[in-house]
Amino acid sequence: MSKVIYEHGRPGRGTDYLPEVEVDLAALLGVDNLRGAPPPLPEVGENEVVRHYTNLSRLNYGVDTGFYPLGSCTMKYNPKIGEAAACLPGFAGLHPYARPEHAQGALRVLYDMEAHLSRICGMAAFSLQPAAGAHGELTGLMMISAWHESRGDTARRVMLIPDSAHGTNPASAVMAGFTTRQIPSDSRGLVDLEALKGALGPEVAGLMLTNPNTLGLFERDILEIARLTHEAGGLLYYDGANLNAILGHTSPGAMGFDVVHVNLHKTFATPHGGGGPGSGPVGVTEALAPFLPVPRVVSTAEGLRLETDRPLSIGRVRSFYGNFGVILRAYAYILRLGGRGLTEAAEAAVLHANYVRAKLRGVYDIPYDRVCMHECVFSAARQKEHGASAADIAKGLIDRGFHPPTMYFPLTVREALMVEPTETETPETLDAFIETMTELAALAERDPDALKAAPLSAPVGRPDEAQAARKPVLTFKE
Ligand SMILES: Cc1ncc(COP(=O)(O)O)c(C=O)c1O
Repeated sequence: MSKVIYEHGRPGRGTDYLPEVEVDLAALLGVDNLRGAPPPLPEVGENEVVRHYTNLSRLNYGVDTGFYPLGSCTMKYNPKIGEAAACLPGFAGLHPYARPEHAQGALRVLYDMEAHLSRICGMAAFSLQPAAGAHGELTGLMMISAWHESRGDTARRVMLIPDSAHGTNPASAVMAGFTTRQIPSDSRGLVDLEALKGALGPEVAGLMLTNPNTLGLFERDILEIARLTHEAGGLLYYDGANLNAILGHTSPGAMGFDVVHVNLHKTFATPHGGGGPGSGPVGVTEALAPFLPVPRVVSTAEGLRLETDRPLSIGRVRSFYGNFGVILRAYAYILRLGGRGLTEAAEAAVLHANYVRAKLRGVYDIPYDRVCMHECVFSAARQKEHGASAADIAKGLIDRGFHPPTMYFPLTVREALMVEPTETETPETLDAFIETMTELAALAERDPDALKAAPLSAPVGRPDEAQAARKPVLTFKE
């Protein structure tokens, strides 16, 4: 087990790597607000600090170290041009409270980024404030709620959600004050239209949909779904987690959606998960634009300004103006690729997923075996009958140098392994992954126990994931 930095220290080695405080804290904060004694800091030299953090970073698996086919997460390569843009001193050193006249460049990025996302998504306006996809969901649903209320339609408190949806969808709906009603998938893996018709009614505020859905399948009835939902007085929410599959080919606006979030850390190649904060901008149609969070960036004769006086706005959903460094990286990505480049990215993502699907057909079961979009969902149910589960196969991949695919999601597939290769991988990498998945399937059937101890190469083998998520130990006690 790795040590924490405190365990490298020894009393007496000093903490003089910290600068002296240059201000009179007692005068600024009041004596009562100061701690009685300095906090115990690790007493380590620069050498220990550098070695400790370098070694820790080497335990981390990321898109910079290897293939990361985590379905629904779009772990594409994060181009370093994004880092260069975010590190430009004029941006990196800008104080978030700088007066608008001193921050015209940053405001221009925000303003233009909203316009780019509006165009890509076919929406009238965007807000860049939400800090993640799930936060975008909450923001969008609060706007749907405010829209119904502004029309006096206060009885609409039910949100419809397909059974293949990501867990954040029902969680966000409940946080926004709705109750949820599940719509089953049909034998094609798509929204069951008859069930949808039966679920719509005067109490329904809207429908949340991911398209392509989490099975990697395009909801081909989307125009009919939009018509039915609108006719029943509901609005359509687009979960943009899978936007990477359709860039430049169609848009949520063209499909009839009213509100959309996009995950910049997925589709627009910014660091993801442990790699940094996210960003989940929300876009809306003209009718919903007055409800967007404030402040809004507006263009005036004196330049760009922040406007807060919007009576119908749901208010602020985050401090300042969103995760600006993330927005900058995504902005650089959009400008670097351009419309044609984004379209090609989507095409390659879909091609790669179909390549993997075709090569692994027969090796693993494919519950909905037809041309997929940017990801494909396999089932390890057959391997499970021999004794090796989807989790065992995923752990075996770690020992062979790959990040596992998403497991046990969507919930509608038994022993699901959801693979999203993304467009940024070479054919050689895809082939190496396919070969390893094939080897693991054979091993699962021949000697399933061989996979039970995996991973042997990772610093932590099989942690209790539920306990780790629910009761994380975040403090160090000697
Ligand atoms: C389909 C889907 N919806 C929503 C989310 C939530 O996005 P975020 O992790 O940015 O909050 C995810 C995340 O993986 C997802 O896959």
